[in-house]
Amino acid sequence: MSFDVVLKGGVLPDGTHADVAIAGDRIAAIEPGITAEARETIDITGHLVSPPFVDPHFHMDATLSYGQPRINGSGTLLEGIALWGELKPMLTHEAVIERALAYCDWAASMGLLAIRTHVDVCDDRLLAVEALLEVKQQVAGYIDLQLVAFPQDGLYRSPNARENTIRALDLGVDVVGGIPHFERTMADGRASVTELCEIAAERGLMVDMHCDETDDPLSRHIEQLAYETQRLGLQGRVAGSHLTSMHSMDNYYVSKLLPLIAEAEVAAIPNPLINITLQGRHDTYPKRRGMTRVPEMLKHGIKVGFGQDCVLDPWYSLGTADMLDVAFMALHVAQMTSPADMRRCFEMVTTQSAEIMGLDHYGLATGKRADLVVLDAGNPIEAIRLRAERLMVMARGKVIARRDRAPMQLMISGREAGIDRRFEVPEPR
Ligand code: FE2
Repeated sequence: MSFDVVLKGGVLPDGTHADVAIAGDRIAAIEPGITAEARETIDITGHLVSPPFVDPHFHMDATLSYGQPRINGSGTLLEGIALWGELKPMLTHEAVIERALAYCDWAASMGLLAIRTHVDVCDDRLLAVEALLEVKQQVAGYIDLQLVAFPQDGLYRSPNARENTIRALDLGVDVVGGIPHFERTMADGRASVTELCEIAAERGLMVDMHCDETDDPLSRHIEQLAYETQRLGLQGRVAGSHLTSMHSMDNYYVSKLLPLIAEAEVAAIPNPLINITLQGRHDTYPKRRGMTRVPEMLKHGIKVGFGQDCVLDPWYSLGTADMLDVAFMALHVAQMTSPADMRRCFEMVTTQSAEIMGLDHYGLATGKRADLVVLDAGNPIEAIRLRAERLMVMARGKVIARRDRAPMQLMISGREAGIDRRFEVPEPR
């Protein structure tokens, strides 16, 4: 048997040393010591080879718009929404496409090959929807782009949001979104969850709502989301994004809530960089961190994937499409510092998020699509610690990005040597 490409000597995320053989756009074999002929052999000895990074929560219509028309002075979610409202009428089809494609280039170079992006449907022109549907086609050869119809200004609070959400779904948007905590009343928020879940059930779609993105402990729309999921038989197809109110909720109530979320198989998508930045802004001290209760959710068997949410937009002034930044922040904010927990943080920016997005072709296994990233690290923990350089990115069996950079040279006291920040961590005792 002969292959198109064989990657020799890589280390898989579980620590196994194996070669990866690729035929066409598929992984044909993963095992140590593959000797069969290949058109191309690439030596990745000692480097971590991982399935690609996955971002289950992003806003591609807003990305790379930082500073347009001004920056967010207060740093709050609400000023961000107002600022986005100022920018929206000025958007053009071409500008949205240009920024989105630029971001997709960043993502591809970072080994981030699957992105779920919310797209605002409150602009009656549905300009961003049409632009991102076009981008989805354009990047289909290397990025799985999943779109969520997102009524940013409220399904009921914004005049045509309901109709526009349906129009966006008719145009081919994949997932039903929502923002219950931004509706005018708790009752409207609750009703929006019900109606949006019913729309998803009728159409056989997934649901991913911005849910309870607030410090208000009484924002409990996640309860309704879990209830509707179970009532409508949507188990495994629904995600609650953010869930930051849970950070501030009463412990007794959370002890009732978590089993209900688990029972309904609703996934959680915290966005650590953004949650730590936007939440707690109305606190003095102590200041709340705002991120939802990740270790507790994992203990209850709730699926969790970390999202990036924002890069250089009205809500966040930094970002480089690096899901290792996301895992790094998550690990700190959630205090997930044991070796097992740190590995789980890596899974939450790769395999767990792929499961939430329903990516069947994803994973490092025979028969799966040949999408992968090779990192300048020996294992997932080291990848997070170093926010490791991407040495190579492969999509559909083709190398789409590659780096071969000489290490930094130290010149100290007559000593001249390359610096290597990798570190052999002893097995935990
Ligand atoms: Fe978001």
